[in-house]
Amino acid sequence: MDVRPIGMFDSGIGGLTVLKEIQKELPNEDIIYLGDTKRFPYGPKSKETIIEISKKCTNFLIEKNVKMIIIACGTATSQALNELKNTFKIPILGIIDPTVEYIKKSMHKNIGVIATQGSINSKVWENEINKIGKSVICKATPLLAPMAEEGWTKNDVAKDAIHKYLMDLKNIDALILGCTHYPLFSDIINEELENKVEIINMGKKLVDYIKPYLNNFNLQNRENKIGSCKIYLTDTETNFSNIASRLFEDSKIKNKIEKANI
Ligand code: DGL
Repeated sequence: MDVRPIGMFDSGIGGLTVLKEIQKELPNEDIIYLGDTKRFPYGPKSKETIIEISKKCTNFLIEKNVKMIIIACGTATSQALNELKNTFKIPILGIIDPTVEYIKKSMHKNIGVIATQGSINSKVWENEINKIGKSVICKATPLLAPMAEEGWTKNDVAKDAIHKYLMDLKNIDALILGCTHYPLFSDIINEELENKVEIINMGKKLVDYIKPYLNNFNLQNRENKIGSCKIYLTDTETNFSNIASRLFEDSKIKNKIEKANI
């Protein structure tokens, strides 16, 4: 048993799609969320830079006395997970493995992945899915995360972008949303693919992992209460709180946000 909070980070609002799933599955856990809005977007940055900033985020969360860290970001997981695991003693969980495990057990044969340029360049998705003997088409969709940060996830611009990006991804059984910002576009992605393809939200697959993971490390919080959530942002002059309050239907979310000086 460990009553300390779970730490998680992303470049901005994307990790909130993961946070939402964790809160459903583990409502009594306290969470500390770090949105590195000052350095957004992570997608086009070099591996070196992503490692450097992921270390900053990890150190910040460790200073807040978290018991484990979830990298709620596909880009940081694909570029920095191994380095973070080698550098820090704290348990660190990336967002990609649980989805690969799910694909491995599923009947799906032809997999599509959309993600940031950095995630696609890392070839993690291609290598992991090829390793389990399935075919995969990976596509970088770099405009989507900035559009999500802008709150443009349901308008005509978003529809046009999704239409163009998914044009050559029709003959697939499942589409992995390889960036945690993308579940915010789920409705129009489903529409574009005529509800014929399973759309995979990595946050939903991570929660299948999280309980056994906490058990293995004896980290579960067994207190009978509703967990707290504290949000830190490296730059607070953003749309973050508007989007977060819509996503969580919580107009008071602003009160949970504080500036992180890293
Ligand atoms: N949410 C992120 C991901 O999962 C990063 C998006 C970005 O900062 O470019 O890849």
